Amino acid sequence: MSAALTDLIAIRDLTRDHVDEILAGAREFLPIARRERASAPTLRGRIVCNLFLEDSTRTRLSFDLAAKRLSADVVDFTQEGTSVNKGESLLDTAQTLMALGVDLVVLRTSSSGAPTQLAREIDVPVLNAGDGWHQHPTQALLDAFTILEHRGSLDGLRMTIVGDILHSRVARSEVELMRMMGAEVTLVAPPTLQPPDVSAWGVRTTSDLEAELPETDVLYVLRVQRERMHRAFFPSTGEYARIWGVNADRLRLLPKDALLMHPGPVNRGVELSGTAMEDSRAVITEQVTNGIAVRMACLYLLLAGANRSEVSS
Ligand code: NCD
Repeated sequence: MSAALTDLIAIRDLTRDHVDEILAGAREFLPIARRERASAPTLRGRIVCNLFLEDSTRTRLSFDLAAKRLSADVVDFTQEGTSVNKGESLLDTAQTLMALGVDLVVLRTSSSGAPTQLAREIDVPVLNAGDGWHQHPTQALLDAFTILEHRGSLDGLRMTIVGDILHSRVARSEVELMRMMGAEVTLVAPPTLQPPDVSAWGVRTTSDLEAELPETDVLYVLRVQRERMHRAFFPSTGEYARIWGVNADRLRLLPKDALLMHPGPVNRGVELSGTAMEDSRAVITEQVTNGIAVRMACLYLLLAGANRSEVSS
């Protein structure tokens, strides 16, 4: 068993043992996530707080289901009408959460670094469900899990991530986790959407998508994050789709046994065409279901690590 994990804020919080433990846990929980098995009593009596301060439907639902399938109680502290919007500081919110007696906080926020700040203020685990441009560790974990289900290993796997790398917390988590697991990552982005510090990421970068496709095992398409763009990074969405979008023509260049992934929600017709989404190599809906299992495993590792034998009960 690996060293106890106190918070999950960034991929760098995890050792390879933690990652293996989460992925193995997710495999055990998958039948519950898929509704093939009844929910488990593992986290009965625990209170998970979903503190979502940024618009999110899928990730909130995924965490909600993950906690409920493990029999935890879930309290929602969502953006609309919360006192965080009325000027309450994160510190005050932290004190309220502790006074309410929650056992774990899942935090989604547009503010990079807020989960780290919250973790300093409260003495229960903080699970980062995406903070600004910084990190989204459970997304990378569920993606690794999905790839493993198909390929068995990530070692030597060639992953191409295309799109809005600059604004993407998913890309940042993805690169760190995939490299830890032995995959080779190439980033493809318009020059305006490449982060200035990308040379320190330890990956190859290019702006020629078509040249990469024949050598790609996993094509990971990012959402164009319009809500994080405060100026024009490309002329129009039509222009973006023409140069960077993944469509049926481009998919002809991708090997037959490759995987096509996207973290959702998709801007249909922008980064992915409708036909691309229906391609037999697309595993986008599997990613969603696997996300529940992986989040169950993360909650379990953070909350019930000491009583491992309960997993299979
Ligand atoms: C991602 C996010 O919010 O960072 N989506 C998600 O978690 N469902 C990716 C994105 O918004 O592009």
